[in-house]
Amino acid sequence: MRLLAPAKVNLHLRVGARDSSGYHPLLTWMCTVGLFDTLTIRQDEGAEAAPSFARFTADAIALTCDETSIPCDDTNLACRAARALIEVIGSAPLSPRLSRGLSIHLQKHIPVGGGLGGGSSDAARTLVGLNRLWNLDLPAEQLHAVAAQVGSDVPFFLHGPSAVCRGRGEVVEPARVPRARWAMLVLSGFPVPTRDVYARFDELRLGDVGFGEAQPPWQEWADLSAGPLLSRLRNDLEPAAFALVPQLGRLRDALELSLARVIRMTGSGGTLFTLFDERREAEVAAQFVRTRHMLEAVAVELAPKVVDDLVAS
Ligand code: C5P
Repeated sequence: MRLLAPAKVNLHLRVGARDSSGYHPLLTWMCTVGLFDTLTIRQDEGAEAAPSFARFTADAIALTCDETSIPCDDTNLACRAARALIEVIGSAPLSPRLSRGLSIHLQKHIPVGGGLGGGSSDAARTLVGLNRLWNLDLPAEQLHAVAAQVGSDVPFFLHGPSAVCRGRGEVVEPARVPRARWAMLVLSGFPVPTRDVYARFDELRLGDVGFGEAQPPWQEWADLSAGPLLSRLRNDLEPAAFALVPQLGRLRDALELSLARVIRMTGSGGTLFTLFDERREAEVAAQFVRTRHMLEAVAVELAPKVVDDLVAS
């Protein structure tokens, strides 16, 4: 089974003060973008076919990845997702067709640690893929509960392509896809560890003002063209990330100047983005950033159509 896992951007991200759980409450509008990891899931149907009462055990999962820097152990969210699902179905007997080995091969295209949610997307696609492969028919709520346990951004990817998420990210409400359908991502490559960004956020007391209960008029925002929409979007983690990695803040300023456009950061960084109404505009901007700033930049569609073995064209 070949699956595509899209990246996301946080179009809008509000962050409150750290609560008693040690986490910060969020209000964020996220949208998938056309940059994909590929997952190939194989159920080993080798010579030793399992008897009908076989139980699938967590040890039977083998994860591999073309990117050698990525751990293929329990710290990998795709692995955690598969294991969490196995725990849920624990005692349920699987189809006699299945033997004991499951292999997942991950081809990474989404930069790691860039605020693009690659690991979470891989995990969500693993859950949906295994639900289908094993004919589990788990209802959406149950998959959602497993996803929330695996990581804060995972539930969003079960729902996508455009959703407003609250809590730690686990409260997901579908939202309209923005009319501005193109983004240019600047893959800065600056490592910006999430934990350190939140710690700096606390030091700077950025959560003290809070973001209140009132939500922006998402429907109205979704109807705006790129310019007016960009002027309304914000990311409360930007001051913390830019204080932690000043080069990233300087890069944002330089890009805003040279492109004469609002540039936002996604998640806790270090990927920066801006929005466009037309594909061509995003491509021209990406080319400009590559040649003028010598940085990796790509034009991507927002809420792209995903055609893989789960969703046939
Ligand atoms: O979600 P993730 O495990 O990547 O987060 C890494 C760290 O960032 C957490 O351990 C926590 O310190 C901080 N964090 C937070 N509030 C959030 C998300 C992350 O304080 N909503």
